[in-house]
Amino acid sequence: MSVESYKVAAARHALTFVEPRMRLGLGTGSTASRFVELLGAEVRAGLQVLCVPTSEETRALAAKLGIPLTTLDETPLLDLTIDGADELDGELRLIKGGGGALLREKIVATASDRMIVIADVSKKVDKLGSFPLPVEVVRFGVTATRNMIEMLAADSGCNGEVTLRLGRDGNPFITDGGNYIFDCAFGQIDDPESLDEALKFIPGVVENGLFLGIADAAVIGGPEGVSVIEARYGENQEAV
Ligand code: A5P
Repeated sequence: MSVESYKVAAARHALTFVEPRMRLGLGTGSTASRFVELLGAEVRAGLQVLCVPTSEETRALAAKLGIPLTTLDETPLLDLTIDGADELDGELRLIKGGGGALLREKIVATASDRMIVIADVSKKVDKLGSFPLPVEVVRFGVTATRNMIEMLAADSGCNGEVTLRLGRDGNPFITDGGNYIFDCAFGQIDDPESLDEALKFIPGVVENGLFLGIADAAVIGGPEGVSVIEARYGENQEAV
């Protein structure tokens, strides 16, 4: 069994949460793409859904597969968003944005009644932060913004290299929203809520990749099959 098969297993299980005529948010990344492909097959078999993609990349894939698409402006309330994650902890706190789509992903997820994360077991961590935290920033004043990220993150106990993400051409990576991304190698993030709050305080920061209190469940694929973790905010989470 491979990581790829775990992703497909999680994506296939997530299909069981989809009901006819649902309005769906479609995530971005390799795991979310597996879900979109499986959903495309269901649509071709007659399933009726209406979907909002979280990136231009996912829009192109879904369109190619014949999945009916809309925009969040036309359909501002969604039933369910299925998306991947770069890391998730036991409280279903996430790091997202490895694919650069964190802003639209967060907007779409929070416009949804439910958000379900699909991931292979390697994404499950005890503490967030091994994966560098993506932070989307406006291009204006980017050095001042970087300085503020470093300063305020340090106040939250997070230190590490803050690197401007580059694209394959060596130029700065530009998000679908026309912004830059800093990847922040903070290492273990002891207090994600405090870091999130600090980053939100910085004017040049558009959004950060911490998804806190957003995911309702996670479907994890691994060597023992698929497990589902349901969020119980205010209580302890447990696998079911
Ligand atoms: C995209 O911006 C990200 O948030 C992805 O959801 C995340 O990077 C997971 O991607 P993979 O499924 O490719 O690991």
